[in-house]
Amino acid sequence: MPGLVVVGAQWGDEGKGKVVHWLASQAHLVVRFQGGNNAGHTVVCGGKQFALHTVPSGILADKALSLLGNGVIVNPRALREEVEGLERQGVRVRGRLGISPLCHVILPTHLLLDGRREDAGQGIGTTRKGIGPCYEDKVARCGVRVCDYLDPPLFRELAKSHLRLHAPELARLMPLARARRELFRDYEALRAFLAPFIADASVLVEAALERGRRVLFEGAQGAMLDVDFGTYPFVTSSNSCAGGACVGAGVGPTRIGAVLGVAKAYTTRVGLGPFPTEIEGRVGRFIREKGGEYGTTTGRPRRIGWLDLVQLKAAARINGFSRLALMKLDTLSGIHPLRVCTAYRLRGRRVEGWPCSRRDAFDVEPVYESFQGFSGDLSGARRFSDLPEGARDYVRFVERSLGLEAAVVSVGKDREQTVLRRPGGAAGFWR
Ligand code: IMP
Repeated sequence: MPGLVVVGAQWGDEGKGKVVHWLASQAHLVVRFQGGNNAGHTVVCGGKQFALHTVPSGILADKALSLLGNGVIVNPRALREEVEGLERQGVRVRGRLGISPLCHVILPTHLLLDGRREDAGQGIGTTRKGIGPCYEDKVARCGVRVCDYLDPPLFRELAKSHLRLHAPELARLMPLARARRELFRDYEALRAFLAPFIADASVLVEAALERGRRVLFEGAQGAMLDVDFGTYPFVTSSNSCAGGACVGAGVGPTRIGAVLGVAKAYTTRVGLGPFPTEIEGRVGRFIREKGGEYGTTTGRPRRIGWLDLVQLKAAARINGFSRLALMKLDTLSGIHPLRVCTAYRLRGRRVEGWPCSRRDAFDVEPVYESFQGFSGDLSGARRFSDLPEGARDYVRFVERSLGLEAAVVSVGKDREQTVLRRPGGAAGFWR
């Protein structure tokens, strides 16, 4: 059975957590492949709300084993807090979570560097979790991997070079002796916490696929935050598109069978950067409040925009979506009219594709198609025919424009508040 990749189709926060949690009920393995605790997946399950950051959403499914592939970066202290928090909520994590020894470690100094750059006015509105500085060290070949962190003499040596390398920047923040203390604060306890989780994710994925098991690759962030294809430089520092699953989990492209793109029925983004369909004022505030559009990781209010089909077409291309999950359709109920961006205008000319130039990405003006909208409470809908006609028209328009089936339409936070348009339940998505 080939693997299924689930990725965000916009700027993150599309509702991947809910989709992954539902699919994970049929999966044997759930594998994260990039990002770190900058991610925030909110999952409502059994009347309880869980906020996941590094741990895959699959941990909330009873049977699946969860893995962090080599492309994920791990903050040991934050992971310990997350695991302990989940355990307090009654979720068994130990024995059900494996971490690749090749994952890079987010060190306390990476957080300091991230924060300093944001404060120094060179920022892009990061989550301040040390993501950029950690991936920088990885690519510059001076990072610390989990397997290095678990080897005390080696870690001491690497920590020394790390401090030497970053001394000029760190010294602007604090005396170096203090930065050094930060690096080693609680090290023994954190090492002891991490050690039992080590598992060769790539080998386990291959073994599961060989045995015909269902493997789910869970993306974090979204297509427009991808370091190559997103709104550079206002992006995260990893490949959040579907191709990232291969490199970040150690699996070949021939092993991936399907890619599910997750998009909201409107658009949001947090942090700075271009956002052509952004709306402010009353409608923006209405969507933000009704949709609870505040960051799971940082609590920041999210920027709100109309659905952008130019952006989604680009996402469909770079990810090779097999089908779409359209989330939070219920949030749009009561807005008249609804608008959908179908093209851009740039210096008086019509543009159909996402622009590469950072200046053009700021300058494009959306061309909209208007819809009458719909009203009423959608949260009880379970079949497509339960939705009001205006909502069905909206979904069909998106499908036609993208040439993709919206196989999942979400109408509420709960797992049951879902319209499924594909036979075979969750298992059908692997085909
Ligand atoms: P970083 O990943 O913390 O370096 O932040 C880089 C950009 O990605 C910022 O605009 C963040 O707001 C954004 N970002 C990172 N993770 C997420 C996420 O999980 N959801 C939405 N935006 C994110």
